[in-house]
Amino acid sequence: MNEIFHRTSIRRFTGQEVETEKIELLMRAAMAAPSAANQQPWEFVIVTNKAVLEQLSKTTPYASCLANAPLGIVVLIRKECRIPEYAEIDCSIACENIWLEADSLGLGCVWLGVAPVKERVAAVDAVLRTPSVFETFALLAVGYPAEERRQQDRFDPKRIHYLR
Ligand SMILES: Cc1cc2nc3c(=O)[nH]c(=O)nc-3n(C[C@H](O)[C@H](O)[C@H](O)COP(=O)(O)O)c2cc1C
Repeated sequence: MNEIFHRTSIRRFTGQEVETEKIELLMRAAMAAPSAANQQPWEFVIVTNKAVLEQLSKTTPYASCLANAPLGIVVLIRKECRIPEYAEIDCSIACENIWLEADSLGLGCVWLGVAPVKERVAAVDAVLRTPSVFETFALLAVGYPAEERRQQDRFDPKRIHYLR
């Protein structure tokens, strides 16, 4: 799959808005993710409001690029899912699916870590006034790339261990 070997973190965006059809494809990719016992513990908040993006960009020390992104995606966990212990893993797969789909659509994207850092979770929840049945997991900044990055080659055969 080309996107796996092409995707990078994009943190600079042109001013171009992300089309509604592409946002739907990102969401379809997210929800195509597998999850433990098929629990699908995710909810997504699509943020295009500039003032809210600006506020979200200050919820962690490393989210400043959101202030200049046309689109932010907040990934939430539904606390009352079947196997809460697996919810973060499930949502991580959904995030990666969004990131890869963004790449395939010619968009740039970066995951901005929130959970498991409690202060960051609280900061995002305060901006969104997240209902208590949900908890913030991660932020993604998305937009048309204003930078070109080549993926680092991280393949290291020494990390592979064969038991024959
Ligand atoms: C769980 C997770 C959290 C991350 N958090 C941040 C972040 O807060 N801010 C940021 O600019 N990049 C963040 N990144 C992007 C990583 O820095 C990036 O994936 C890594 O440096 C490898 O670069 P690449 O994505 O271009 O291959 C995060 C990535 C992951 C998977």
